[in-house]
Amino acid sequence: MTTSVSTEQPGYTRSYLADQHAGQLARLQTLERAFDPLSHKVFERLDLPDAPAILDLGAGAGSLAGWLSQRYPDATVTATDIDTRFLVDIPGIKVMTHNVTTDDFPAASFDVVHARALLCHLTDREEIVTRAATWLRPGGWLVIEDVSLQPSLRTTNPLLRKVAQAGITLLEQSIGSDMFWADRLPDRLRDRGLVNVGHRTLEGRIGDNSPADAFWAATTAQAGPALLELGLLTQAELDAMVMLRADPAFTDAALTLVSAWGQIL
Ligand SMILES: C[S@@+](CC[C@H](N)C(=O)[O-])C[C@H]1O[C@@H](n2cnc3c(N)ncnc32)[C@H](O)[C@@H]1O
Repeated sequence: MTTSVSTEQPGYTRSYLADQHAGQLARLQTLERAFDPLSHKVFERLDLPDAPAILDLGAGAGSLAGWLSQRYPDATVTATDIDTRFLVDIPGIKVMTHNVTTDDFPAASFDVVHARALLCHLTDREEIVTRAATWLRPGGWLVIEDVSLQPSLRTTNPLLRKVAQAGITLLEQSIGSDMFWADRLPDRLRDRGLVNVGHRTLEGRIGDNSPADAFWAATTAQAGPALLELGLLTQAELDAMVMLRADPAFTDAALTLVSAWGQIL
């Protein structure tokens, strides 16, 4: 597919996935319902000090930050985002406008730095991981969770394969996303000298009425106008995908959430 996108300045906050879109809050909440269970399990594995300082980068609609403040009542939970409009009315968290591409934190500020479904969309993701590790105190944990769309390209269904490839192309060209970056997350942490590196994955399917299915559908619907405008898909193909997903006989692998964590010495 060689279609190129006319957007002059690619990036998440100017894209069809950004927070100013009607329906974005509902879409972020589908993401939370799909991914929070794995994130909770990952945090339960971490050995944290008393009253930990926890940073959630690009916190979105804030369900995980809110859960962290309840799970660790003595913690200081800082939730950042470039657009904090949805981080309201969440008890126990500190909210900060922060662009992780350009803004820093002092070295050794946190016991946990967490980012979910954020770095795959930012072109300087590798530098951000390196900088985020410096924000950790000795013994602190870096927890990176991101989405891989690799499973959707392995389908034998030609329509799903076309829709998946169109979505990946749109994400790459209009935002600069790398929807396969998550596949090597544990190695990326080890490469930076982190120890006690672990990982878990969540396999998300479509067509099964699961939370992942709802997230996939909400994101594809929000991408629809951009996919049409760029000629990556036709309306007939989008309509056929809606029908396929609703077919009780259909279900297929769509995505993986990869969670990886490691500790700084
Ligand atoms: C896909 S959402 C994920 C939200 C949340 N982490 C979650 O998993 O529920 C990505 C979030 O990153 C934010 N974001 C995008 N670019 C950012 C940047 N450069 N710095 C900080 N946040 C950013 C967006 O505003 C959005 O809220």
